[in-house]
Amino acid sequence: MFVDYVVLERKKKRNCRKKKAGLQMKATIRLDKMLGNLGYGTRSGIKILVKQGAVTVNGKSVKDHGMQINPTQDVVVLDGETIRYRDTVYVLLHKPAGVVSATEDSRDRTVIDLLDEDLAVLSPFPVGRLDKDTEGLLLITNDGKLSHELLSPRKHVPKTYRALVAGDVDKEDAEAFQQGVTLDDGYVTMPSQLSVLAQSNGEDAPTAVEEGHAEEMIDAIKLAPRQEEPVQHATLSWIELTIHEGKFHQVKRMFEAVGKKVLYLRRVSMGPLRLDPALAPGEWRELTEVELESLRNYRKDGPA
Ligand code: URA
Repeated sequence: MFVDYVVLERKKKRNCRKKKAGLQMKATIRLDKMLGNLGYGTRSGIKILVKQGAVTVNGKSVKDHGMQINPTQDVVVLDGETIRYRDTVYVLLHKPAGVVSATEDSRDRTVIDLLDEDLAVLSPFPVGRLDKDTEGLLLITNDGKLSHELLSPRKHVPKTYRALVAGDVDKEDAEAFQQGVTLDDGYVTMPSQLSVLAQSNGEDAPTAVEEGHAEEMIDAIKLAPRQEEPVQHATLSWIELTIHEGKFHQVKRMFEAVGKKVLYLRRVSMGPLRLDPALAPGEWRELTEVELESLRNYRKDGPA
């Protein structure tokens, strides 16, 4: 009994020490690492800058490139510029067609290549994948925990897409998607919500089924020829689909399952995040505090 108590007390103390050490480790960072993380050069380059007297900390010139800095308290100035430290990055990208959702690729440009160097240096990665020819909302971050939770198959984070589909997408398709369709590998999809926003018979201008979507469909038709095999169809449908999982090529394969082909695909939302209409394909911006907060709350409150 007494032995158990002693073991427990020792364990508590150990954990407490570990916690304190952890906090200390997080609170400070080497000066050269901090500047390196922010993209101000390599460790050796920064060492030279510091030796040359280009850096002051709290108003005093420093010569020790390895000194510990508390980024939230110490004021670091490099060549007259006050440095604001950050170690996380959250970017909302309007992914254009033609770039791959990866951090590196030997053939294609990646979504990371579209970012500024001072963000890319923080090692961000895309949260999930969009196909090379898919456009739309892509979250890029270096927050592994957030990414893991958004992608977790148990969370069923909804993802909404708009797509130009060859053929007459109708109520039967919507019912089939609500029930779940069988993909080419035998997987039966979870219930998803499909609605038709506009349609065209291929010759006349599209008719909006839901107010205001005809214009958007015309734009999508202009983008669609980027597809490998243009499909001539009497009817084209501009649709919106919300899925709650993320299988490989899921939207395209779901339409294949009902005998139709996706000609153009754009993701417009993921969880609480919406594609910013002010961002043209290829443009990005960092998440606002409100968006970040909504993501964090979504993680907490979202479906388990
Ligand atoms: N579904 C697809 O088919 N492609 C994507 O890029 C995303 C979802």
